[in-house]
Amino acid sequence: MDRRKFLNWFGLVGISSSLPFAIAACSKSLENQRARSLPNEQQAVATAPLETKSRDDGFVPVGSLSALKASVAGAIAPSEIAVVLVRDASNPEAPTAVNPRCTHTGCTVEWHNGLNAFVCPCHNAQFDPKGKVVRGPAEKPLQTYEVKTEGDSVLVKIA
Ligand code: FES
Repeated sequence: MDRRKFLNWFGLVGISSSLPFAIAACSKSLENQRARSLPNEQQAVATAPLETKSRDDGFVPVGSLSALKASVAGAIAPSEIAVVLVRDASNPEAPTAVNPRCTHTGCTVEWHNGLNAFVCPCHNAQFDPKGKVVRGPAEKPLQTYEVKTEGDSVLVKIA
């Protein structure tokens, strides 16, 4: 399976929170693939430790504030669901959570800290840290998730 097909598949599967364990095996491969193929800036995106148990309130723990604050890339990509947490320099206690599936044709966007933007490797669309379209061809923003913190834990509401 080539990289583009794999990333498209991951994006589709990743939005489903009902299959967290099936996703885990695939996303580990994605993380390994990304670590080998991305420039240094993007390799610094840390993988956050996860508990993928969904809670009664619909929130899922996806990472830690300390890992996000320590990330050289300014973002972390939890490995088991399709969420990228982006640090807000003006308010490090309130990260944003974005689904990295591009709204153009479904490739997985990549966080570029130097640009302070997500860039799609397929057709070069660009999105700001909150998922808003900065440059086409994508016309719709990236999906975002409600985020909350509890101590050092960052949680997102998937459903
Ligand atoms: Fe992202 Fe086309 S799939 S710009």
